[in-house]
Amino acid sequence: MGYSLWNDRLVLDEKVIIDSQDRGYQFGDGVYEVIKVYDGEVFTLNEHLDRFYVSAEKIKLAIPYRKDMLMQLLRDLVQKNKLATGHIYLQITRGTSPRQHHFPEKCTPVLIANVKENPRPLANFENGVKATVLEDIRWLRCDIKTLNLLGPVLAKQEAYEKGCYEAILHRDGVVTEGASSNVHAILDGVLYTHPANNMILNGITRNVMLTCAKEMGLLVKEQAFTLEQLKTMTEVIITSTTSEITPVIEIDDYVVGTGKPGEWTRKLQKQFNTKIPVAIYK
Ligand code: PDD
Repeated sequence: MGYSLWNDRLVLDEKVIIDSQDRGYQFGDGVYEVIKVYDGEVFTLNEHLDRFYVSAEKIKLAIPYRKDMLMQLLRDLVQKNKLATGHIYLQITRGTSPRQHHFPEKCTPVLIANVKENPRPLANFENGVKATVLEDIRWLRCDIKTLNLLGPVLAKQEAYEKGCYEAILHRDGVVTEGASSNVHAILDGVLYTHPANNMILNGITRNVMLTCAKEMGLLVKEQAFTLEQLKTMTEVIITSTTSEITPVIEIDDYVVGTGKPGEWTRKLQKQFNTKIPVAIYK
């Protein structure tokens, strides 16, 4: 039995009650974060909370808690649940009111957070994964970490049915990102990644990896690439909080590079490991 954060209180999971008129439930009117925990330590919490507040601001939702307070509550939540390695799921909705599209005058945001034990997917890091290319049918504000996830859900389902780990999305032949990850590709010592604009979510893991790349002398170009260019890349990587740095070794009917995770990918994974709070990597 676990504990959840419900607004500013830690309560038993089953004590959390969400109203059927909650705007998150009816409209997906809210934002969220997924935050990694390694050996009981929360990773890049500050960066995740900054993005949480920015996402909320972009949908004109005022979070009624200060960042330092929320930070402490999330750390308490991890401790209370004795979470070792896994993640925190955090979301806030605009709150409860009779259904109408425009913002209700009186509405108190509803915040919840819970945790899940979840081991690092080490086999994927080692062996790589398969991906499929699909059209990006999402809206034009992918920079907001909105609760509206129908586009990614449909893409992920199609990928799943094809036996793939991730869907690589494109708009008119230009690669944007994955259904729930950022996509990067390497060719001749240059790492290409879509610029952090409204077409992608600016991933926290993406930024940690870009720092690693710069530290290692791998040139970074925040430049979008096409599906045609993707085919010529020798290494393809997806990044996310839970997938960390995962190599992509097959995309639909073709093999990426040698069909094995490439050398730069290995180096990036190593460098990433030095940054996470897992004792054996220090
Ligand atoms: N997904 N792009 C999209 C569309 C995402 O949903 C995610 C994260 C990312 C990577 O962001 P980050 O590195 O900050 O996790 C990029 C989370 C993990 C999820 O929805 O489960």
